[in-house]
Amino acid sequence: MTPASTRVAGAILCVETSCDDTSAAVVEDGRVRSSIVSSQDELHAQFGGVVPEVASRRHTELLPTVVAEALGVADCGWDDIAAVAATVGPGLIGSLLVGLAAAKSFACARHVPFIPVDHLQGHVAANYALGVEPPFACLVASGGHTLLAVVEEGVRFRVAARTMDDAAGEAFDKGARLLGLGYPGGKQLDQLAARGNAAFAAFPRAAPRGCDFSFSGLKTALLYDLRGRSEAEIEAHRADIAASYQAAIIRQLVDKTLACAQAEGLRRVALAGGVAANSALRRALTERCAAAGYEVFLPPLALCTDNAAMVGLAAAHLPAIPWPDYLALDAYASGAQARAARPPKAGRGRP
Ligand code: KG4
Ligand code: ZN
Repeated sequence: MTPASTRVAGAILCVETSCDDTSAAVVEDGRVRSSIVSSQDELHAQFGGVVPEVASRRHTELLPTVVAEALGVADCGWDDIAAVAATVGPGLIGSLLVGLAAAKSFACARHVPFIPVDHLQGHVAANYALGVEPPFACLVASGGHTLLAVVEEGVRFRVAARTMDDAAGEAFDKGARLLGLGYPGGKQLDQLAARGNAAFAAFPRAAPRGCDFSFSGLKTALLYDLRGRSEAEIEAHRADIAASYQAAIIRQLVDKTLACAQAEGLRRVALAGGVAANSALRRALTERCAAAGYEVFLPPLALCTDNAAMVGLAAAHLPAIPWPDYLALDAYASGAQARAARPPKAGRGRP
């Protein structure tokens, strides 16, 4: 941290473009004044998944309108913005660069500080909208990551466990594809499973080391389960198979989360990331936490999937880089969340 780095008081304009959602928000003193998300789902549905190049170009088209709307809903003018924050990684590098370049330009033009935010820290920070106090255990489950974070202070966390192979969101998306559902798959599988019998099919219980996760075997098990059934049987029991598959993912997520909380001696448990929007996961975690005497925190659905409000909630806990030291700040596709909190060396970005 440069000596000049400080926390910002006042309205922060926030940008999130790490994957295929174009989002902007205004957050002030930990309060969300506006949050606009323009989904690119329809655009990518025709390809059955996110096409990175297409996503970057779409961010370029959508971002000016989304930012203007976020300012409008918050009833903010540019003069009211005390700082700008944006996701700098991990994510799709082209998508990240569009949001970061735009956010740095806004900050530079207004001569205000800039706050780089790590995407996973953003997901964790969604829980601050609920007033959770650290320390707490947070299950972060998205399309690209699945890990158990022990949140020590603000957005600083230690990774207690992670997936050994696929992310939970990937297991949902790939399972949805095998079941013949559209894109994006997680939400559709959630909706279909709600009408099914979770005891219909037996899926294996993965048992990696400690609190770590594994989902790739489950996906293969679904493939073989479907291969062993006739078309008519799949048609008649699609919701039952979906419910059984979903239950196997959730069982692992909930078991490991509670084991982690117990091992770490934590009494508060939180959810984060797109998979945190899953209705059965929210229900199962609530029930198990109640039985174990843990306090549970479930961010509203709009703060689970990618959004810029969570960037602002994280930014409230991070140092701001003064104008114009952030100009050379780069995005990163993967890497430790700690990189986001590290500003460039003093003077590196001066024009
Ligand atoms: O956090 P997120 O919006 O983007 C990434 O950072 O990846 O998470 C997206 C993931 C996708 O895999 C999507 O299928 C999954 O979250 N997801 C869900 C639900 N809503 C989104 N998975 C299960 N049930 C849902 N309701
Ligand atoms: Zn995400």
